[in-house]
Amino acid sequence: MNRRQFAKGLMASTALTVLGASLCFDGSTTPLLARPGDPAELPVPPLEQGRLENGRRIFDLSLQSGYSNFLPGLKTPTLGVNGPYLGPTLNLANGEKIELRVTNRIGERTTLHWHGLHLPARADGGPHQVIEPGETWTPSFTVKQKAAMYWYHPHLLHKTGLHAYFGMAGAIIVNDRQSDSAALPDRYGINDIPVVLQDKRFNRNGSLQYAVSMRDRMMGMMGDVMLVNGAIAPVLRATHGKIRLRFLNACNARTCKLGFADNRSFHVIAGDGSLLPVPIKTKSVSISPGERTQIIVDVRDGKVAELVTLPLNLAGRGSMTGRRGMMGGGMMRRMMGMTGDDGRYFRVLEIRPSGPLQPSNPLPDRLTTLPAPDLDKVSKVRRFVLNMGMGPMMMMGGGGFTINGRSMDMGRIDERVKLGATEVWEISNTSPMPHPFHIHDIQFRILDRNGQPPHGPETGLKDTVLVGSGETVRVIATFDDYADPQRPYMYHCHILEHEDAGMMGQFTVEA
Ligand code: C2O
Ligand code: CU
Ligand code: CU
Repeated sequence: MNRRQFAKGLMASTALTVLGASLCFDGSTTPLLARPGDPAELPVPPLEQGRLENGRRIFDLSLQSGYSNFLPGLKTPTLGVNGPYLGPTLNLANGEKIELRVTNRIGERTTLHWHGLHLPARADGGPHQVIEPGETWTPSFTVKQKAAMYWYHPHLLHKTGLHAYFGMAGAIIVNDRQSDSAALPDRYGINDIPVVLQDKRFNRNGSLQYAVSMRDRMMGMMGDVMLVNGAIAPVLRATHGKIRLRFLNACNARTCKLGFADNRSFHVIAGDGSLLPVPIKTKSVSISPGERTQIIVDVRDGKVAELVTLPLNLAGRGSMTGRRGMMGGGMMRRMMGMTGDDGRYFRVLEIRPSGPLQPSNPLPDRLTTLPAPDLDKVSKVRRFVLNMGMGPMMMMGGGGFTINGRSMDMGRIDERVKLGATEVWEISNTSPMPHPFHIHDIQFRILDRNGQPPHGPETGLKDTVLVGSGETVRVIATFDDYADPQRPYMYHCHILEHEDAGMMGQFTVEA
């Protein structure tokens, strides 16, 4: 799959009709709108291997603006990396030295952050590593990751939501020795497919509509069209019996519960930062903004497997509604988008088995070994309370997005972590809606959620975790390798409008 084919894929999506193609379900499974015409082929971003120079793998990344064709006859101004929309999938190997040469050609300041990667703070690409227009920023570091899919996206203070929404994002696939020998589908673009999810809303002229209402800013920006690698409800022609899908939730605010229209089961094999210890058989899997998961779906029955989003059921996960009756019941909360769900569901991807299918390996019983979290090593417990400052101020759009009662301040270091320390971070959500909490630099294990052990994709290494209203999630991590008393890493809500409005804090790792 090269860049030209990717671009062609984007063009093909113009065969679809305008917003009608976004297939809204009414909460049951009956589509309200039929899909017109021939759907697009799933575009697959090119796999970028970079080039070797003096023992380093170099990647040239150009942040640029351009036009994309999502809707028939309409041009949409977008942002992308090495192209007008989204960017290449960077292919990294654990242990190798890499250098990223990021040139800013979008005409305004921005940054590029490597979400999920363990790296020196100066290379993180957070709000302190601003790239001025025309400048090139060249972080370099050694890849120290488990095999998994990570990603990159902009991170400029107050502008992350806008820049990411316009398309400046891409996947990073890291391989390690374990993954090379795991006998999992690994032919990129053939039986190993990145699926980048982003919901959008369009103006009549085809331009993207961003954060126009108070609701968009309060609940986060949700769209009514789901773009899948930049196409609407596209088709993937399967030539193998088992297909690995690597999902990236690159939505600004929407949590996606994914499953198949025929209710078939599949196996979840990975979370954010590692394979899972064992594959988990399920019929649905949820990812909140920033999170990734990987599944293996079996299409040897030759039937079309239609991937859809399903109604979220975050109630019963410690919602404040029942306990305090604050938002007047689930209906009210749903209407306000407070369940992380606005009642809109999408056709995501149609997998069409075509021709005789290539045989696939049986799924291994064990995928990876992760050492059990060691509570004896914990030197500190930190508490983080996520809040939205309910009340008249919030209703007026006054914000009040805070962590521990404070909004983000670039000049303030909120937490100082000792190099090498193992810590427990206890994240509580006292606001009426769920927040995906993300920590830079490290991968953590989830200890428990309201005292209950994690399950499904939460059993692997994670860098983002959804904390429901009223919930407390405890995670454990070790802050190794890189000390820098000056330059902080971020932790924040990955609903980008919340992050931009201040639900973010800074920590340093100090020797
Ligand atoms: Cu995915 Cu701080 O970001
Ligand atoms: Cu990050
Ligand atoms: Cu949030």
